[in-house]
Amino acid sequence: MEREYSIFNTDCRTGIKDIPDNSIDFIITDPPYFIDGMGGDWNDSKLKSKAKKSGIVGGLPVGMKFDRTQGEQLQKFLEPLCQEFYRILKPGGFCVVFSQGRLYHRTAMALDLTGFEIRDLLGWKYEGQAKAFSQAHFIKKDKNMTDAEKAELIKELDGLKTPQLKPQMEPMVLAQKPKDGTFVENWKKYQVGLVNTKESLDGMFPGTIMEVSKKIRQNETDEKIDHMTVKPVCLISHLIKLFTKQGQSVLDPFLGSGSHGVAALESKRKFIGFEIEPRYFDIAKKRLEKSANKTDLFSTTQ
Ligand SMILES: C[S@@+](CC[C@H](N)C(=O)[O-])C[C@H]1O[C@@H](n2cnc3c(N)ncnc32)[C@H](O)[C@@H]1O
Repeated sequence: MEREYSIFNTDCRTGIKDIPDNSIDFIITDPPYFIDGMGGDWNDSKLKSKAKKSGIVGGLPVGMKFDRTQGEQLQKFLEPLCQEFYRILKPGGFCVVFSQGRLYHRTAMALDLTGFEIRDLLGWKYEGQAKAFSQAHFIKKDKNMTDAEKAELIKELDGLKTPQLKPQMEPMVLAQKPKDGTFVENWKKYQVGLVNTKESLDGMFPGTIMEVSKKIRQNETDEKIDHMTVKPVCLISHLIKLFTKQGQSVLDPFLGSGSHGVAALESKRKFIGFEIEPRYFDIAKKRLEKSANKTDLFSTTQ
């Protein structure tokens, strides 16, 4: 029997090379963010100690030193991978890549330069934590001002903070590998390239901004998942159902805790995943085994 899911505890940049050309129906992935040490050299213990020190991971480093090399590094990291995505996706196949407001353009460029058609900007709507901070702390430490000048300036800057509005939307790039012929010709050959508009999160025609209530997210699992960037299964299932049919294959090269795999299995799709960190791989493995048993439709592999 053909494997229904295969996951590998390895660097996806190596693992992906074993996937045959034009064989994957859909890619949905949430790569390293390239902020706060979540880069190409993702290191679990380093990140944890950083989180303890700054109190924030997923925001900017303490002092908010804007670092434009992060975007350059992200694009450099993604470009060779996007070439692989292009190679393994079927013509007309879709690819959804999560990003971050500050670096979205780099993700889109990496896909665009590889030959993908950038079809849209999608957004996951959520309530993030406001991370902007005031300058009072720095003004107080300034040795070139008198106390009176400091007090005056702090008053003047009341309410003025660093340029970080409260995050409420995580962007995704929707890219499509060019079709072979028309939409219909491509569909007849590969069964991909069109969107299932009967799939909906809210009963309405599916839109670019997607919202999953906190209540639904909390009810998704009864156990605490020890990963810093877990995506809601319901959101990923929606995306999978929009862009694939039952039985088709879904790839996530950055598995993390395995949410994309759980969503694929629960939606009756085949799944391939890679995760470099053994600890996260174990979490994903357990979650996928549980889903496969729950749906009782899939054989467990690897
Ligand atoms: C943003 S997280 C994905 C979270 C996932 N969407 C979830 O819901 O749990 C990115 C993951 O990619 C993994 N990673 C980073 N570099 C990798 C690589 N080269 N190959 C495979 N996995 C990698 C990290 O360990 C991390 O778990």
